[in-house]
Amino acid sequence: MAARSGVHTLGGRRLAAQVTGVAGERPGYRALAQGVRTLLLDGRIALHARLPAERELAVALGISRATVTAAYDLLRESGYAISRRGAGTWTELPEGARLTSVRTPLAGEDVIDLAIAAPGALADELSAAYAAAAADVARHATTPGYHPYGLPELRAAIAERYTGRGLPTLPEQILVTSGAQQAMALTLTLLGRPGDRIAVENPSYANALSVIRQLGLRPVPVPVTEDGWDAELFGATLRQSAPRLAYLIPDFQNPTGRLMPREQRQRIIADARATGTWLVVDETIADIALDVATPPPFASLVAGRGAEQIVTVGSLSKGHWSGLR
Ligand SMILES: Cc1ncc(COP(=O)(O)O)c(C=O)c1O
Repeated sequence: MAARSGVHTLGGRRLAAQVTGVAGERPGYRALAQGVRTLLLDGRIALHARLPAERELAVALGISRATVTAAYDLLRESGYAISRRGAGTWTELPEGARLTSVRTPLAGEDVIDLAIAAPGALADELSAAYAAAAADVARHATTPGYHPYGLPELRAAIAERYTGRGLPTLPEQILVTSGAQQAMALTLTLLGRPGDRIAVENPSYANALSVIRQLGLRPVPVPVTEDGWDAELFGATLRQSAPRLAYLIPDFQNPTGRLMPREQRQRIIADARATGTWLVVDETIADIALDVATPPPFASLVAGRGAEQIVTVGSLSKGHWSGLR
C-alpha cells in the first residue's frame, strides 16, 4: 500500500521550515501537530508521506524529542498519522476529512477564481478548436503518428508565432511538450548534472524548484523584491557563483507578479553571455498581461549574433486552457 511503502519521505529540516511558518517559532506539541495537520490538508505535504524520525525533527526544530513524540501521538489519536513499529510514521486522513487542496475550481460567467492564475474557460473557442482539429485526425491516423519533437504543423505554427512576436524562429528550434512543467524537467535534465548550481529567483515558482531539487541541482537564490530584480546582483551572482544555469520568470513573475524591465533583460543577457551561463526563461505567464502589452520574447532582445545559450519555455495553460497539457 502507498501508505506503507515510504514512497515519499519528508526530511526533518524541510518539514521544520514549513511547520515553523505555520505554527510559529519552536512550536509546542499541540502547535506542531496542528501545523502538520494544516500542511497536510492544504496540500503542502503529501498524504501517505513518511514523517521524519522524531529525533531528526526535534533537532531540526530545536525542541525536545518528547515534544515531537507527543505531537506524533496526537496526530495518530486524531487519525492524521499511522505508525508501524520500527518502520516509521506516515501522514493519514481520518474518515470524513477532505484535503482542501483537492478542490473543484469555481466556474460561472460572473465568477473569478482568484485561487488559480489562469483565465476562465473559453468554452466556445475551445469547442470550435477541437472540432476543427478533429476533422484532421483521419489524415494523421494514416501515419504511425510518432513525432518525438511534436507534430510538424504545430512546430511550424509555434515558430511562426515566435517570429511574429519578434524572435525569428525555425520549426526545428521548437520542441512540443505536455506543458511548461515537462519542458522544465526535460531542459534541466539535459543541461544540468547533479551538483550543478542554478541561479533562481527568490521567491520562485514552487514546482520549478521541486524539479530543481529532484534533479540534485543546487539552487543559488537571487532576491526578487517589491522593486523587482537587481540585475547588478544577478550579474555578480553569475560571475561569483558560476552557476551552469539560471532559471528566470521575467513576465509577471510567479509569485511576485513583477515584470522585468527591458534594460534589466539586456543586462542579464549580456552577463549570461560573458559567463557562459545557460538561461532557462519561463514565459508561461507572458500571455496573461492584464494592464500592459504582452512583452516580446526575452530572447528577442539578444543583440547581434552571439553564442547565447537561451531556452525559452512557453505554455498554453495560462493564455488558453490548462486542460490542453
Ligand atoms: C511560472 C510558471 N511556469 C510553469 C507553470 C506550469 O505550466 P504548465 O501548466 O504548462 O505545466 C506555471 C503554472 O502556474 C507557472 O506559474
